[in-house]
Amino acid sequence: MERIGSEMNLNARDIVSKFAEKGLNIHPDAVEILEELKGGNIDHLIEYISRSHDGIIVTPEYVKNLIGKYKTIESKPQMEISEKFEIKVERDITGNSSCEGGIEDFVFHFNSRFEKLSKILKRRVKSIPIASLTRIRPNEAEIIGLVCGVRETSSGNYLIELEDKTGRINVIATGKLREVASELLGDEVIAVSGILKGKNLIANRIIFPDIPQNGKRPNKDFAIVFISDIHFGSNAFLEDSWNVFIRWLNGEVGNEYMRELAEKVKCVLVAGDVVDGVGIYPDQDKELRIIDIYGQYEEAAEHLESIPKRIKIVLSPGNHDAVRQAEPQPSLPNEFASLFPKNVIHVGNPAWVDVSGIKVLIYHGRSFDDIILKIPRLDYSNPIGAIEEILKRRHLVPIYGGRSPLAPEKDDMLVIDEIPDVIHTGHIHTYGAKFYRGVLAINSSAWQAQTEFQKKVNLNPMPGNVPVYGPNGKIHRLRFYKGS
Ligand SMILES: [Fe+2]
Repeated sequence: MERIGSEMNLNARDIVSKFAEKGLNIHPDAVEILEELKGGNIDHLIEYISRSHDGIIVTPEYVKNLIGKYKTIESKPQMEISEKFEIKVERDITGNSSCEGGIEDFVFHFNSRFEKLSKILKRRVKSIPIASLTRIRPNEAEIIGLVCGVRETSSGNYLIELEDKTGRINVIATGKLREVASELLGDEVIAVSGILKGKNLIANRIIFPDIPQNGKRPNKDFAIVFISDIHFGSNAFLEDSWNVFIRWLNGEVGNEYMRELAEKVKCVLVAGDVVDGVGIYPDQDKELRIIDIYGQYEEAAEHLESIPKRIKIVLSPGNHDAVRQAEPQPSLPNEFASLFPKNVIHVGNPAWVDVSGIKVLIYHGRSFDDIILKIPRLDYSNPIGAIEEILKRRHLVPIYGGRSPLAPEKDDMLVIDEIPDVIHTGHIHTYGAKFYRGVLAINSSAWQAQTEFQKKVNLNPMPGNVPVYGPNGKIHRLRFYKGS
């Protein structure tokens, strides 16, 4: 076997523990292959293998294949040159809605959610149906179920009601698992490994569908700009900051580095709340500069007209926009969409968009209100914490019945069934950009100062902060608001 590097020699135990740290088991033959490699780059190679792996056991075949690919990557120039910049809208609800809002729709919807998420979990556990648990009474069993209820018991443990298509069981979470159980939101699909005691399953492990370590960090020769929550029409809209942002896109402000970066921008993604809307919260009219929705969209279209036409704009709606409130939301209706310039692509919320090879999941983020309310360690100043929770559960709206209205579509499009390169959200008006297991999580702040309503809910916005995914995979944080 050819050697990669020469300085370090990891033994089998080190290799096994390095994979275990990443939540992976490795086959002994695969360990042997890696042991023989011996070299300074072996840590890097292990990182590469574990990021690319979407399963539970790393096989020798997988390792051999990845070593080949790893060598090719190492010898290649790092940046991918895009021959033709292209945006493809891969999936959204626009034109695909099937829901009529009846009880039956909810049955189909939750079945779809369960099927999709249990498929992901089945790659990681060997589950048996809940109904067969009490019949075959195995020593230790793994089950997959939808969380129907969670409560603390008088002894300080947690009781989780878990349901699959065959039945229901009470799972008891004790010790360290109490904390995990206390953060369950109520409608997520999880796997549990445990021991049957009477009619209850005593949990040893609670497994979330979660994102596997993702190896490929796109590294293109163009830049993507992420914005959201512009709120045209609001009297708190920060027009001065917005205008500086537009001037930057036009190459009119900033130092040489900033101007070069602006030239590389090929796409602006907008994650909802393009306008402030009308009648969204009590007494909103007192905080509006433009009181009719048509006028708000006219102003939005006029402002977006000033973005250079070489830049594509992808516009997804939020809860302030003129589409149905229940998620998933379709794209803006034609009466508003037709006002916008031709370089605007209208998509729904959520939307899966391929930006010349970078897979972006755009979601406005309304479910964050419920998640932040339910998990005390989270708050509005840390949007990435909320994004991590939805990635962990592989579902954009894991709580049903909270503040986020849900359209019970037969196909649950809110499941994160693919691994995006980037998840782009907004809604809570704060800034965050961080990699979570190889997925770039972004919350793109706002263009609105704090409203009276936000004061009441203790939301301190961080407006005018713009994340940019630049060439060389660099993340930039641009500030267009003086107070930020
Ligand atoms: Fe907003």
